[in-house]
Amino acid sequence: MSVGASENTLVQEALELFDKHFGRSPRWVVAAPGRVNLIGEHTDYNAGFVLPMAIERRVVIAADRPIDPALDGQACVVSSAEEVPALLAVDGDIRPGDVHWSSYLQGVVAGCLAKGLKPGPFEAVVHSDVPLGGGLSSSAALEVATATLIEAITGQTLDLVTKALLCQKAEHEYARMPCGIMDQFISVMGQADHLMLLDCRSEQARMVTFDNPALTVLITNSNVKHELTGSEYPLRRAACEETARLLNIDALRDASTEMLEGAKDELSDEFYRRARHVIGEIERTVEAARAIEQGDWTRVGELMYASHNSLRDDYEVSCPELDSLVEIAGSIGREGGVIGSRMTGGGFGGCTVTLVETDKVDAVRETLCTRYREKTGIEPTSFASRPAQGACIIR
Ligand code: GLA
Repeated sequence: MSVGASENTLVQEALELFDKHFGRSPRWVVAAPGRVNLIGEHTDYNAGFVLPMAIERRVVIAADRPIDPALDGQACVVSSAEEVPALLAVDGDIRPGDVHWSSYLQGVVAGCLAKGLKPGPFEAVVHSDVPLGGGLSSSAALEVATATLIEAITGQTLDLVTKALLCQKAEHEYARMPCGIMDQFISVMGQADHLMLLDCRSEQARMVTFDNPALTVLITNSNVKHELTGSEYPLRRAACEETARLLNIDALRDASTEMLEGAKDELSDEFYRRARHVIGEIERTVEAARAIEQGDWTRVGELMYASHNSLRDDYEVSCPELDSLVEIAGSIGREGGVIGSRMTGGGFGGCTVTLVETDKVDAVRETLCTRYREKTGIEPTSFASRPAQGACIIR
């Protein structure tokens, strides 16, 4: 499998790390990407549409059978981001425990065992350049890399949907985060030069070509992470489910603006605004995919700003730092090369996604970072990415 230059460096570092810890060269190497979502936020668990792409940032795992016979029934995993190695159970009756960085891997091992993929004992190193907690799905990338490693070890292949769902289940049960299906699907199924319009009800994806070299996706990390995501995400999800129940429908995907307006008096203001975001965002996402296919970039930009405003005002998952980044991008505007900008991912910190004309990307990045620093006193980080390929076995 051929890989890009930055991935090559990451793989090289993972090989060195494996050698440092285990004193040899590993037999298996796999990679799985993080993602950025162009539009369609907080719609996946409402059976709606999302439009993410895999990014050129990945989790790499290098692994081999252990030399140490004491590892019977276990895997020893070292992470370049953690001080202490973790031991995983690889057979027997595996149950979720306290949440720890290795819970993601443990949950995937359990899910693979349930599907008949028995990896046996192994030693592994995890090495990643997906920013942790930056809203770019570092955890989904870790889960999907783990499932890919187990495919490499066993020589068995999971079908793509089964693989993504098994990783999502690991996140629900072992990391106790009731996420939707977007992150795991795109990390498994991403394709170079394509966005993925995923119907989260049918689980069918339509790939949307995104290969115009004149356009660049700029990802800017606010470098803040408000500790609200963990508690607020399940509350948003519960509010949506409760509203669907009150509207007598299966999911907010089935609601229309007319239906919501008709039921306004029976809903709390909070539930009404949450549902208004979801209904509008599903429409915006489908329309954005169409506008991208037609090359109508003005419309794409408008939809991105509308999405951000709705996430800020109705869904209330943005924060002042993300709002600043989007405001600065908006003030640079079309003349400065900015097509559109919005927060991406769960919210309460993390990244914005900005669509920029490639020949102006350096100037845009410079202005964004300088003005954000002036306004907040925080140093942002910013990088461009083309849509990347999903998870793969490198060796
Ligand atoms: C997180 C979840 C996803 C999705 C987004 C919001 O990234 O893991 O499933 O719900 O938030 O769009």
